[in-house]
Amino acid sequence: MTFEELSTARYTQRSYDTKPVEDEKIQKILQAGRVAPTAKNNQPQKVYVVQSLSAMDKLRAVTPCHYNAPLAMIICYDKNQEWHNPTDETITSGVEDASIVATHMMLQSADLGVHSTWVNMFNPDETRKAFNLPENEVPVLLMMFGYPTASAAPAPTHTNKKPLSDTVQFL
Ligand SMILES: Cc1cc2nc3c(=O)[nH]c(=O)nc-3n(C[C@H](O)[C@H](O)[C@H](O)COP(=O)(O)O)c2cc1C
Repeated sequence: MTFEELSTARYTQRSYDTKPVEDEKIQKILQAGRVAPTAKNNQPQKVYVVQSLSAMDKLRAVTPCHYNAPLAMIICYDKNQEWHNPTDETITSGVEDASIVATHMMLQSADLGVHSTWVNMFNPDETRKAFNLPENEVPVLLMMFGYPTASAAPAPTHTNKKPLSDTVQFL
């Protein structure tokens, strides 16, 4: 599959089978996150792999958007390692860094036939407490991974993408 085909075929999965994701695939997904670009190559990301039944139970308690996925990741950044923009101290890179790491993992998983859900419908503080995460780590998003159920399909809105003329301007 070309990248164009892969990025078009990927869709947000909201109906997961119980089939576990193979360890080799999990490693490949994590490696794709590892090589993602980050501001000044600071690599402030911290990725928690939620796999055990007890950990998944905890995760399911912090978001309604787990869709019974058998695997999830909590993608965080470390406030002590993110880049600070010297031209404007209010701008830091953590959310961008965590998001590009997550995007690499989302697309790598799609290439392996593993479906995913990007979830920000969760409370970061509640999640930090549930998993005893350090105070300096900020959970940015949860990502669900797994295989779709037989009847799974993209949401009807999946193909509603604005035309480039609405979102792009050549200067
Ligand atoms: C930043 C972000 C946050 C999202 N949060 C959620 C979420 O909490 N729950 C959910 O079911 N989907 C979530 N999604 C999935 C979007 O709803 C989905 O990407 C969008 O509707 C487009 O559909 P598509 O991914 O199938 O193209 C999120 C996606 C992004 C990029």
